[in-house]
Amino acid sequence: MRISDPKIVAALPDLGVELRPGVSMTEHTSLGIGGTTDLLRIVRHAHLPELIDLLGAAGIPHRFLGGGTNVLIPDGELPWVVLQLVRPQPDVRLEGNFALVDAAADLGRMVTYCAKNNLGGMEGLIGVPGTVGGALRMNAGAYGTQIGPLVREVEVHRAATRRIETLRGSQINFEYRHTSFAPDDIMLTVQLELPSKPFREILEGIRICNEKRRASQPLNQKSAGCIFKNPPGGSAGRMIDQLGLKGHHVGDARVSDRHANFFINAGHASAADMLSLIAEVRERVRRAYGVDLEEEVIVWKG
Ligand code: EPU
Repeated sequence: MRISDPKIVAALPDLGVELRPGVSMTEHTSLGIGGTTDLLRIVRHAHLPELIDLLGAAGIPHRFLGGGTNVLIPDGELPWVVLQLVRPQPDVRLEGNFALVDAAADLGRMVTYCAKNNLGGMEGLIGVPGTVGGALRMNAGAYGTQIGPLVREVEVHRAATRRIETLRGSQINFEYRHTSFAPDDIMLTVQLELPSKPFREILEGIRICNEKRRASQPLNQKSAGCIFKNPPGGSAGRMIDQLGLKGHHVGDARVSDRHANFFINAGHASAADMLSLIAEVRERVRRAYGVDLEEEVIVWKG
């Protein structure tokens, strides 16, 4: 989708937006997959409601992209423009046990910055790739830690009201890889309440999680993390593995040899390849176990 109306192009700088025309989403996703579109970089988010209204009035559909680490974007010319927040400096401010964090901040860097200031509770999140906003949107978790319970307040652009609202943590429902935010809500800032802990102790927790992750996940390959959610009481990775599907591939989209719930772009995989692989693995699991796996990765559909 291209923004061709010169009036809209001219209005963008005043709304705190930089236009990057014709950007390939392969450069903006950890899978290295995705078509081309205009990218709107939001330098200042105060005018976000006006921007969304402007695009809506002009009939230009949009999608919001965080760190691009848990998303599968279709191939070809995309039917949406893509909005992405630009990370400000500084992106984390600390006050006692509270961390005020910009949604565009890198999750791992935020965890280590807080750790250096003796604020812990997020050790398990250390190797989860992506932004703080993305982690919040999905209630990211690993090794017994989820971000949701640490949330005190979130500033969010609500798709329903097209306004920026501030929600208390208790007003948000955080479940396993799911929150009560609408798919089009845009996280802007979050305030976390973190327990005080000595740096050394946090560092040891981080080291243990990093070690476990390195031993079980394909960290240096292009992936979007786990493709499927675990079914209640079960493990998607174990089921796919037991079916002998490690290494199974459609084109360059491949089930990881290291962790069967990670699907890798082993070269030049297209979104179509990845979607075929997802459909095939889901069907094999359904036939073998009678379990209908639900995608954990967010698939952009028309
Ligand atoms: N397993 C296999 N074969 C495999 C993969 C796993 O037999 O190929 C077995 C393991 O041996 C283990 C069980 O399955 O007994 C569970 O595996 P693992 O400990 O790797 O955890 P997981 O349930 O597969 C979850 C999250 C990960 C998170 C880890 C660590 C989901 C879908 N996945 O994986 O999150 O990093 O626990 O806490 O909840 C993600 O969300 O993208 C993600 C990677």
